[in-house]
Amino acid sequence: MTASIEWDKLGFSYLQTDCHIRYTWRDGKWDEGRLETEPYLNLHIAATCLHYGQAAFEGLKAFTCKDGKIRAFRADMNARRMAMTARRICMAEVPETLFLDAVRRVVDANRRFVPPYGTGGSLYVRPLLIGSGPQIGVNPSGEYTFIMMVLPVGAYYKGGLKPVRAVVLDDYDRAAPQGTGHVKIGGNYAASLQPHLLAHDQGYPVELYLDAREHRYVEEFGTSNFIGITKDGRYVTPKSPSILASVTNDSLQQIARDLGLPVEVRPVLFSEVKEFAEVAACGTAVVITPVNEIVRNGESIRVGPADGCGPTLEKLYRRMTGIQYGEIADTHGWCMEI
Ligand code: PLP
Ligand code: COI
Repeated sequence: MTASIEWDKLGFSYLQTDCHIRYTWRDGKWDEGRLETEPYLNLHIAATCLHYGQAAFEGLKAFTCKDGKIRAFRADMNARRMAMTARRICMAEVPETLFLDAVRRVVDANRRFVPPYGTGGSLYVRPLLIGSGPQIGVNPSGEYTFIMMVLPVGAYYKGGLKPVRAVVLDDYDRAAPQGTGHVKIGGNYAASLQPHLLAHDQGYPVELYLDAREHRYVEEFGTSNFIGITKDGRYVTPKSPSILASVTNDSLQQIARDLGLPVEVRPVLFSEVKEFAEVAACGTAVVITPVNEIVRNGESIRVGPADGCGPTLEKLYRRMTGIQYGEIADTHGWCMEI
């Protein structure tokens, strides 16, 4: 029986589903994992995730496709990124086979929460890896807990393809040049909360970060990568060691190439932003969200149509979501049937 949810009214907020899946790593190995119905953990008060930030997460989506089947999008990429994050903060790695098995088991157990085809929604899958063993000297935990929870979601920002305004707050950095910006640890998001609230209070749903060393180059938005389309139709996205390697960005680059657009992954000067014909934020949660204004020190840069999405971004969006919903052939083998 499908859950009684107003599918077309879903936003991006927590909603309890039937269960999550939970695994424990002890004595060098992962257990078999169990589906748990209670959304609570009994956690040791000296767990390293609480004191020393041994906490990593991921985000991916599963879709009900046109043929009625449920498919997860590029979960293998998230598995590999989580393994990279685990290595950076010295946690036990979750093997890719276990990660993919967790996706299959938890999505399958929550089928009734996967938004039906045609509603525009998806099932957001949130893997979480934490140090759960007690440790009071600053050292890695001897025990890890891997959780995967799911929840049905709609648009992250209200209005789907409607553009948002972004702000650069020069008093804040998201990530240090040789820090942890390239991996997905909880601490990166704790650091972004204050600038995020400040941006929000000033009327900007999104904040854009520049490189921490010089504040000359574009890095990324708080929860998504930056993409710019030049007036002559090139796809440009920043290259930097301190931004998160977005699965969405990687997919859009491939789609752009498939559509015949040149793709440039390179340092992008902030002064170049005003030259772009279209700008967007991209990520699993935000998909492609057009950005039509970027404000820095009271100076405003306007890009793309005032209240719509530019033509190139719209084409990329249609192709990407078309593949995800099984309307367009999955020629790259990105979708995993559940
Ligand atoms: N950059 C940051 C800081 C993010 O939090 C996210 C979201 O996961 C992304 C980029 C986009 O990554 P992905 O497309 O893999 O979701
Ligand atoms: C995602 O896009 O999956 C994210 O993790 C972004 C955000 C909700 C933290």
